[in-house]
Parts: sequence; structure tokens; C-alpha cells
Amino acid sequence: MRTLVKGILLLFPISILFLTQKIACATDTLTTTQFIKDGETIISAGGSFALGFFSPSNSNNRYVGIWYQKISIPTVVWVANREVPLVNTSGVLEVIKPGLLVLRNGTNSIIWSTNSSTSVPNPVAQLLETGNLVVKDENQDNLEMFLWQSFDYPTDTFLPGMRLGQNFVTGLEVYLSSWKSYEDPAPGGYTYHCDPTGYPQNFIKKDSSLEFRTGPWNGLGFSGVPSLAKNPIFSYQVVIDNKERWTWDNQTGSWLIYLSAPTDNCDSYGLCGAYGTCNTGNSATCGCLDKFSPKNPEKWANGDRSGGCSRRIPLDCKSGDGFLKYSSLKLPDTRNSSYNTNISLEECRTVCLKNCSCTAYSILDISNGGSGCLLWFGDLIDIKVMSQGGEDIYIRMAYSESVSLQSSVGKKGKKLAISLTLSLAMVLFALGLILYLQRRKKKLAKQKKEELSGHNFSMAYTDEHNKKDLELPLLELSRIIKATNNFSFQNKLGEGGFGPVYKGLLEDGQEVAVKRLSEYSMQGLDEFKNEAICIAKLQHRNLVKLLGCCIEGREKILIYEYMPNKSLDFFIFDQTGRYSLDWPMRFHIIQGIARGLLYLHQDSRLRIIHRDLKASNILLDADMNPKISDFGTARSFGGNETGANTNRVVGTHGYMPPEYAVDGIFSVKSDVFSFGVIVLEIVSGKRNRGFLHHDHQFNLLGHAWKLYKEGRELELVDLHLGDSYNSLQVLRSIQVGLLCVQHGPDDRPDMSSAIFMLGNDGVLPEAKHPGFFMERNVVNEHSSSTQTSSSRGEITMTLLEAR
Ligand SMILES: *[C@@H]1O[C@H](CO)[C@@H](O)[C@H](O)[C@H]1NC(C)=O
Ligand SMILES: *[C@@H]1O[C@H](CO)[C@@H](O)[C@H](O)[C@H]1NC(C)=O
Ligand SMILES: *[C@@H]1O[C@H](CO)[C@@H](O)[C@H](O)[C@H]1NC(C)=O
Ligand SMILES: *[C@@H]1O[C@H](CO)[C@@H](O)[C@H](O)[C@H]1NC(C)=O
Ligand SMILES: *[C@@H]1O[C@H](CO)[C@@H](O)[C@H](O)[C@H]1NC(C)=O
Ligand SMILES: *[C@@H]1O[C@H](CO)[C@@H](O)[C@H](O)[C@H]1NC(C)=O
Ligand SMILES: *[C@@H]1O[C@H](CO)[C@@H](O)[C@H](O)[C@H]1NC(C)=O
Repeated sequence: MRTLVKGILLLFPISILFLTQKIACATDTLTTTQFIKDGETIISAGGSFALGFFSPSNSNNRYVGIWYQKISIPTVVWVANREVPLVNTSGVLEVIKPGLLVLRNGTNSIIWSTNSSTSVPNPVAQLLETGNLVVKDENQDNLEMFLWQSFDYPTDTFLPGMRLGQNFVTGLEVYLSSWKSYEDPAPGGYTYHCDPTGYPQNFIKKDSSLEFRTGPWNGLGFSGVPSLAKNPIFSYQVVIDNKERWTWDNQTGSWLIYLSAPTDNCDSYGLCGAYGTCNTGNSATCGCLDKFSPKNPEKWANGDRSGGCSRRIPLDCKSGDGFLKYSSLKLPDTRNSSYNTNISLEECRTVCLKNCSCTAYSILDISNGGSGCLLWFGDLIDIKVMSQGGEDIYIRMAYSESVSLQSSVGKKGKKLAISLTLSLAMVLFALGLILYLQRRKKKLAKQKKEELSGHNFSMAYTDEHNKKDLELPLLELSRIIKATNNFSFQNKLGEGGFGPVYKGLLEDGQEVAVKRLSEYSMQGLDEFKNEAICIAKLQHRNLVKLLGCCIEGREKILIYEYMPNKSLDFFIFDQTGRYSLDWPMRFHIIQGIARGLLYLHQDSRLRIIHRDLKASNILLDADMNPKISDFGTARSFGGNETGANTNRVVGTHGYMPPEYAVDGIFSVKSDVFSFGVIVLEIVSGKRNRGFLHHDHQFNLLGHAWKLYKEGRELELVDLHLGDSYNSLQVLRSIQVGLLCVQHGPDDRPDMSSAIFMLGNDGVLPEAKHPGFFMERNVVNEHSSSTQTSSSRGEITMTLLEAR
């Protein structure tokens, strides 16, 4: 629990105990003749912020801090004496000559103070409407002349107008640092920096090691965090001048988590080494860029990807190199880069070509059609394949590599093959289009304007599965736009496998969840189709219900019943959520998931293997009934088939069985494995992936098995359940969970036996050892042992809703 808290950089909301509420002096300024005691506050001119004394939750220590005054959820944005708490309410804050703001304790010792060497005749401290506390001369309003400002010493919160980065004149670096815990505002291990080396980018650091990099600013957003682009709620700017470099945002109106970063395992810095690419589509797998190969194939094969990759054919600057374009990437670390805002991409290439140590170039600013030039020197590190957004980079290659592409395409045979396939495809396409148009004409005679750019999808959709089979209402885009307030950010529920999910309210008052296929994700198109077709045919109380879909123009949208309680992970892994799930509810959820899965595997018209079963794909309705969702990766089979082999492993590490993750073999028993993992997660309240124990290197599965072998199963139970559980049910659940995660697929029970074993007395078989019970296994791409989901640094952008 403590590590989790440490990992969150911006802590919202923090419940604060305000001992005394009321305002002593209705002013925003403190002069040398005044002071504030514990219980008194000063309020900024517009009433947005207050400065005073507070205690964090579960703590009696007193701190001086600034919090939002107009918001009912107490939200501290800055703390003065972070490391030196007051032990009781005897603290006094005052301004002294020649210009210092000081905090004294009960025995009059100064325990905290601003520092500045300048003296002014009439020093005052003023809390500005921006939330900035400044020390200045009474008559001085020029920011440049302030003696001190709290915006230069932020704690864990970034406010509009604040600047992160380095002041090259004073050398002062402004960065954010996490609280140690909810109880202790002292600096925790995580910090957020704007690094001005080379071309600026932002970093999350854990102590001194880099955890996450946003990627360089591209004029619209950060290269690695496309969702952090400008939006109606706030904007960012990166300003580079000779004096300082900074970023700022602007926020208005309840707290919402807008964005969390790092978002996936590929966000951990440098995971795949130099010239390695990390691809989340395949559950964080490292690869080499095209025309690169592992530097140390042996280590690479053993799962250690940190050595990275190198060019198959080394550069030879003398005989002339060329460049290859790589697309949809998070641009590599820019600390060894230089840039020029004035030159074109073509000139950029020329500049790079001239210098043998220049390894790559790209457009600097992609807004307004693109301008400027960014040049890399040295190895390219921390490249991620982006599912949406992503940029082009031109990487230096030996002459033979850079031309081989063109020449191979130029070979006659290939050209012929391509044109043949093309024309065949066009004939098929035309045929399909005619068929499609005829059918559509009949069915949609009423609907007038229809864009056709979505045709290839609709065509496949209607052709493969005739409408009788589909039985799925089509909704008009205009209704969905209205229902979701034009896909407004306030309606956004989260980010699904292939695009954002919004909450919508239909005209008849029905609440729905709207899943919108991201335009960028080509992979998502198949998954969309798959999901629509697959789930339209399924009806079960433990499966999420698809209400309709919408295919208009470029929009591809699925409409689901709305689940007010979000997903299982919001409860079992959440600090407060876990308290609201007692054992009977947890057992009810386990049984519900099992029944939903049994239906998929045996009872539905199609045999369905879900392939991506995990806590976040189990949604909960108002009565906490579990509903399996996200069929984007599901596969259906004829009656007798039970599995298949695939080259494209989709799914989530921590939930995939060994035979699937390693060899791509999947069957109903892969879902059984994932079910077992979920059962153990529900019982323990801990995630399998990222599980840490000080005694051993096992993950949750290994830990559960160890306890089971030692007859100490009940030690696995989530402490938050207290003693209020049925230990027989718990023991059964643990054992069934362990049987489901056994290494050998044939040893695992099928879902009907699992349900039977959960619900009936009787002797259960002995569980053999689980698959993947060591945390650092071959499939685990993590090269360092520090990466765990429970202790990594995160930036959480929480915003005030404009209401
Ligand atoms: C605070 O503590 C000091 C020393 O422990 C004591 O002298 C003082 O009376 C206390 N003040 C209050 C308000 O409790
Ligand atoms: C005030 O601070 C001084 C110096 O840190 C310390 O010696 C003293 O005990 C503190 N008094 C109170 C009441 O906390
Ligand atoms: C203020 O304190 C910080 C750290 O304690 C120090 O780096 C900085 O130089 C000080 N500034 C002045 C003006 O003394
Ligand atoms: C921030 O937003 C508010 C309201 O949206 C606007 O009035 C203000 O000018 C903005 N501030 C800056 C610095 O852009
Ligand atoms: C930058 O270049 C230096 C010198 O070649 C090298 O040691 C360092 O690792 C490079 N850093 C990055 C982030 O590429
Ligand atoms: C950029 O180009 C403009 C006009 O093309 C010129 O006036 C300006 O001096 C250039 N700036 C730099 C830094 O080269
Ligand atoms: C190549 O670029 C590097 C880094 O900017 C620079 O240090 C070096 O002098 C350049 N070499 C040539 C030949 O221009």
C-alpha cells in the first residue's frame, strides 16, 4: 500500500483534516506587522486559493500549505514545511525584514523559511489568485522583482502558470516531487522534470533513475503521450528561449483523472535498448527496428532485451549513406539531439548527411503542416510503436540498405505480383461494392445521406455475416454525437483496447457506453468487426450486452449497456474500493465470471475463446454482477475445435498461460488459466503482474502455490476482508484458482468442472505447480528488477471539470 502511494506523483484528492475552518483576516496579504496562527488563513483575491495550516489524513502533524478554497474536496496543492512538521497547533507564520516569510514553532524557533538574499523596505507575502505565494516589496507587482515565489518550489502539483524546467540564469531547477505517502508530504522518491538537454522532453525519475519519458514536444503534444495534446480543458506550451525552458497548462471547474502516464509497460524507459522497439499491441514485446538485429542474439533469446539492436549492415560514412523512414513511433530520447526551427525537412536531411555522427532526423514541429528539424547524434533509445499518433523518423542506413527497398520493389516479378493482387482486389472490391449497395438500398432506403468512405468495412461486415445473423440495431451517428455531448472529454470513461469509451445518454433516458474505434488503429478495425459480430450473437447475464452499432463515414462505434460500477480492478486493487467488496460479493463475482466463461466455451452457438480475460475486462453492473467484456481479441470456433495456433499473440502479461505466451497455442484452457489468475487476484486483492514479496522472487501465482504447499493458504487472503469470510469458500476458491493456473493445459479443469468444484463439497485434486510462477520469466520483457506496476512512478493529470 505504501509503495502505491509513493508512486503517484500528483496526489488528488487528499483528505485533509482542517482543525479550524474560518478565516481570520479576509485578506490575501501578510505584512510585517501581522501573522497567522494555526486555524487562521489568508485567501487569494478571487477566493480560489487559501493558505493556512492543515493535517494530512491519518496524521496529527501540522503543515502550512495552499489548497483550493472553492472546492469541497480538500485539495492541497503546495506545502511549505514538507520535511519539518509542526507537532501541535502552536505554529505561527509571519513576514520578517529584510524580506523573509518564516514559520515558527511553539518555542519560537524558525523551522521553515523562504530564502532570498535581497532586502526590500516593506516586505509582504501575498497569495495570488493563481495559487502562487510570493514574497515581494509592498509596491512591487513585477514578477521579475519578486524575492521568492512558491511556483519556483512546487511540491506535487502543477498549476496553470507554473513553469517546469531550468532557469539558466540562476541555475534553479523547478520540478515536481511526489509526497512520501498520503500521510506524509515530505518528498517521495518520484520526481517529474523538464529536461532541457538537447531538445526538451519531460521525465519521471525514481530517485536518480529514469522511469518514463514523455518524448519531445512536437508542436501539438508530447511525442509519446498523444493524449496530452491541447484540448478544451487545458493547453500546454513549450517555450524555449535563452533564459529558460518551460511548459505550462491552463485548467478550469470536480476532479477527474484525465490521463495517467506511464500507461503501459512500453512506457518504462529504455526497455528494449538502443534501436529496439517496444510494441504494446503485442503486450509489451521488444523487437528490433526493420533492418536491425539483436546486438547479442544469445541474451536476446533468453529474454534480456536491454542490450538492444544494431544495424545488420554497419554504417560507412565515406561511401555515402542514405535514410530509411520509420513511421508511427514515439521519437527516441532527444538528450543527444540538436534542432533548428528554421530549416525544411529536405535541408534537415542534408545537414544530417554531412555529419557522420548524425544518426537520424525528423520534423521538429508537426503543427501547421510541419516545420523545423530535429537531429539525433548517437544511439536511438526508448522507441515505442504507437497505436495512435506517433511520428516519422528518418534513420541513417548504409547505402545498400537504404536503396535495397526500392530495388527489391523494382524487380519485375514483384511488381507483377503486386499489380495482379491489386487488380484482383479491385475486382473483388467492385463486386462487393455492388452487392453491398444493392442490399443497403433495400434496407436503408429511408436513410438519405450516407458517406461511403467506410465501405470496405461495412462490406465485409454485411457480406460475411448476413443481417439475419447480425440482429444488431444500427444507430445514427447524430444520435450518438448528441448522446455523448459530441464525444466530450467530460463523458470519457476510459481508453479501451482500440479507442476511447464514452458515457452517453440516449433521448429515451437510457445510459449507454459508447466505444469509438480510433481512426489511427488499423489493427483495431479487425478487432472492431470481430467484436461486433461475435458479441452480437451472445446473450448471457454475465456478458456485457451490445445494444447497437454505428458505421457512418469513418466512424465505427459500438454501443453497450452502461456499467455504473466500472470494472473489477477499480475495486480489488483500489485503496478504498476494496473495502466495499466483502467476501460474499467477491465469491458472487467469481461464480458469475465462471458462468459467463462456461457459456462462451460450451453453451453459446459458437465456441468462443476470449483470449484477453483480465480484471479490467470484468465490468460490474449496479448490483455488482460481473459481466465479461472486450471481445476484440476473441476467436470463435466450430463445435468440435477447441483451440488453435497463432503467430500474433494478443493478450495481457500476467494473465496468459505459458503455452500461449511462448508458442502462441491457445485453447479454452488459456481462458481457464486467466480465470484462475483472476480468482487468485480477487482473493488476495493483489495483482499477479508486479507482485513483490520480500522473501522470494515468485509472482502471485508462485506465492499462492508456496503458501498452499505449506498449508498456509489463508495468509493469501486480502487483509481488507478482516475476519469476515467463509474460510471453506476461500480455501476452495484458492485451490480452484491454483488448479486453473497449472502449467500443463491438460491438467487444468474445464469451466464446468471449475464451477462444480467451487459450488460443491468434496475432495479436490492436488494442484501441480503453476505456469509462470517466477516473476522474471522469459516472457517478461523487463530487464531491470525495479519495474512493477505497484511501485512505478506515474503522472496523474487530474483536472477540474468546467462543470
Ligand atoms: C505545543 O507543544 C509545546 C511543547 O511540547 C507546549 O509547550 C505547548 O503548550 C503546546 N501548544 C499547544 C497549543 O498545544
Ligand atoms: C521548535 O523547534 C526547535 C528546533 O527545531 C526544537 O528544539 C523545539 O523542541 C521545537 N518546539 C516545539 C514546541 O516543537
Ligand atoms: C535557497 O535554497 C536553495 C536550497 O535550499 C538553494 O539551492 C538556493 O541557492 C537558495 N537561494 C538563495 C537565493 O539563497
Ligand atoms: C485559462 O483559461 C481561462 C478560462 O478558460 C482563460 O480565461 C485564461 O485566459 C486562461 N489563461 C491562460 C494563461 O491562458
Ligand atoms: C549521449 O551521448 C553520450 C556520448 O556518446 C552517451 O554516453 C550517452 O549514453 C548518450 N545518451 C543518450 C540518452 O543517448
Ligand atoms: C529564420 O528564418 C527567418 C526568415 O526566413 C530569418 O529572418 C531568421 O533570422 C531565421 N532565424 C534563424 C535562427 O536562423
Ligand atoms: C557533428 O555533430 C556533432 C554534434 O553536434 C558535433 O560535435 C561535431 O562537431 C559535428 N561534426 C562535424 C564534422 O560537423
